Amino acid sequence: MPAYAVIGGQWGDEGKGKVIDYLAGQCDSVVRYAGGNNAGHTVVNERGEFQLHLVPSGICWPGVTGIIGNGVVVNPDVLLGEIDGLQERGIDTSRLFVSDRAHVIMPYHILLDELQEQARGRGAIGTTGQGIGPAYVDKVSRDGIRVGDLLDSKHLPEKVRNAVAMKNRIIAGVYGSEPMDGDQVLARCQAWAKQLEPQVCATEQMVQDLLDQGKRVLLEGAQGTLLDIDHGSYPYVTSSSPSIGGAVTGLGINPQSIKGVVGVFKAYSTRVGGGPMPTEMLGQAGDELREKAHEYGTTTGRARRVGWFDAVAGKYSRQVNGYTGMVLTRLDILDGMDEVKICVGYQVDGAELGRFPANTTLLERCEPIYETMPGWQEPTASVTEVEQLPADALAYVRRIEELVGCEAQIISTGPSRDETIAIDRVIR
Ligand code: GDP
Ligand code: IMO
Ligand code: MG
Repeated sequence: MPAYAVIGGQWGDEGKGKVIDYLAGQCDSVVRYAGGNNAGHTVVNERGEFQLHLVPSGICWPGVTGIIGNGVVVNPDVLLGEIDGLQERGIDTSRLFVSDRAHVIMPYHILLDELQEQARGRGAIGTTGQGIGPAYVDKVSRDGIRVGDLLDSKHLPEKVRNAVAMKNRIIAGVYGSEPMDGDQVLARCQAWAKQLEPQVCATEQMVQDLLDQGKRVLLEGAQGTLLDIDHGSYPYVTSSSPSIGGAVTGLGINPQSIKGVVGVFKAYSTRVGGGPMPTEMLGQAGDELREKAHEYGTTTGRARRVGWFDAVAGKYSRQVNGYTGMVLTRLDILDGMDEVKICVGYQVDGAELGRFPANTTLLERCEPIYETMPGWQEPTASVTEVEQLPADALAYVRRIEELVGCEAQIISTGPSRDETIAIDRVIR
């Protein structure tokens, strides 16, 4: 009954999609457990390049079941659009299932996300604008509409009309914005119900059955540990639990079934949206790295903030998740640099701080303490054997392993599935 989790080790966009597509061929099922279409996972393989927002990143493998679990918030328009797009490209989506317990991102959630961000002004989080936060708020306040509710044609009209009436009081009363038409929202829900029905089921039972049958289940993390609602740089976080705890509650599995937890880390750091980032490279150096790495968001197209690898945050991420190994991606982006830096500690007012702080204003004041290592001029791009790595590149990887506290099982040297160095088996 082995489940293996692939978790974002940093602030998201570490290359989880690439890693999941690579590993999914050895698995029976790939399962999303948290977040929604704020995620943008890129997969590049012999079928082409795919940007996936809700559909699990193992979809290109025939025979792999894709599951969207109860912990995910689902925008049905996005999901249905994504399914259509995949089908047009000849990808089989018949083995894709959605939990009846997953919450629906309603049109008013998207509007409220925008209105709340405007109201935050200079303190805006820089959300993806997809209604993620407001949808999770309704889940927790027990006012949400779940995928299963869409199929309950008898009770749906009253539920939706009541929800829209409640939200209109906030939309108009608090924000002075245009109220929504309850009947129009209801009509959209009814249309979604028809289209989604064949794919809706009790996915927690399905996942448990797969595990009982000894099938290999890959748990697909979205976002990253430093964006976790509890463990991230609050309030500049998302509204779900991307870390390992989210996989347990977001699917209804027991922790004993999880045999491996891999943290995916970029060989440097990026972050989209607001909030502190101690190793951020500003000015020309940052611009150069961003352009070289083409660091622009998969979901929103926004420029990603870039910086050196932060091993203080990396160690913290390992502690939160209990990584059994890591995947280091985008090593190739650092090819050709004279030197590379790793943040090995934080300093605040001249004193060293031992760990990643909970307090965001403190994190903002953290000055990174850097260790500088020689760069490498020979390319790592597309390398597939660890022996072919330049010695200085391997030394850099080894130092990151040491500081984070776990070994690299995979090194990724390019976006494509085959640009991968397998050091140790993740799926056993
Ligand atoms: P995710 O959200 O964690 O799945 O990551 P994204 O897909 O948002 O962003 C990662 C980007 O890096 C995508 O454009 C990938 O195609 C690309 N990528 C993944 N691994 C590598 C790698 O090892 N080298 C390079 N150059 N690109 C990579
Ligand atoms: P993947 O799965 C990077 C960030 C947003 C914003 C904050 C809150 O592709 O790694 P939200 O819309 O979730 O309320 O926004 O979280 N964010 C991500 N950043 N990658 C992601 O997903 C992200 N999902 C959310 O930029 O700062
Ligand atoms: Mg992404």
